[in-house]
Amino acid sequence: MAKITLSINKKEFPMEADPQMPLLWAIRDLTGLKGTKYGCGVAQCGACVVHLDGEAVRSCVTKVSRAVGKQVVTIEGLSQANDHPVQRAWQEIDVPQCGYCHSGQIMSAAVLLRENPNPTDQDIDYGMAGNICRCGTYLRIRKAIHAAADMQKKTATKG
Ligand code: FES
Ligand code: FES
Repeated sequence: MAKITLSINKKEFPMEADPQMPLLWAIRDLTGLKGTKYGCGVAQCGACVVHLDGEAVRSCVTKVSRAVGKQVVTIEGLSQANDHPVQRAWQEIDVPQCGYCHSGQIMSAAVLLRENPNPTDQDIDYGMAGNICRCGTYLRIRKAIHAAADMQKKTATKG
C-alpha cells in the first residue's frame, strides 16, 4: 500500500492504495464515484472508459500509479450540468436501453468528437468499436454522435 493522491474531476482524493491496483477500483471503491462501470475487467468492453489527461483509457487495465500527477475525468466530471454536447445528444435521442455501457460510450464519444469534430458513419463505427453495447444501441449511438457534432458546430458558430 502507498499513500497517493489522485486528481479526479478537478478534486484531490488522497488515498492509501496498491499502486498496481486498477484505476477503476480506486475510482469506484475509494472515491465513491460510481458512474464508471465494471464490465469485463480485461479491456474488451469499454464500460470503464475515463479520461486521463484528455485521453480515453480503460480504467480496468490502467494502474493507479499511471494516474498519479495526471487529471482524471469521469462521467461525473465531463460537464458542469450534464450538458456536454454528447450528453445533451444522448438525452435528446434517448440512446440508452439498460444504460450500463453508456458512461463508457459517452466518455469515448467525447474524445472522438474532440479529435474529429465532423465524423462520418465510418469514423464513428471505427472510433467507437472498442465500446460494446449488449443491448445493441449502436444506431442510436451513431445518430447521437452526429447530433452532438452539429451542436458543437452551432456553439462554435455562436461563439
Ligand atoms: S471493464 Fe474495462 S474494458 Fe471492460
Ligand atoms: S444499453 Fe445496455 S449494454 Fe448498452
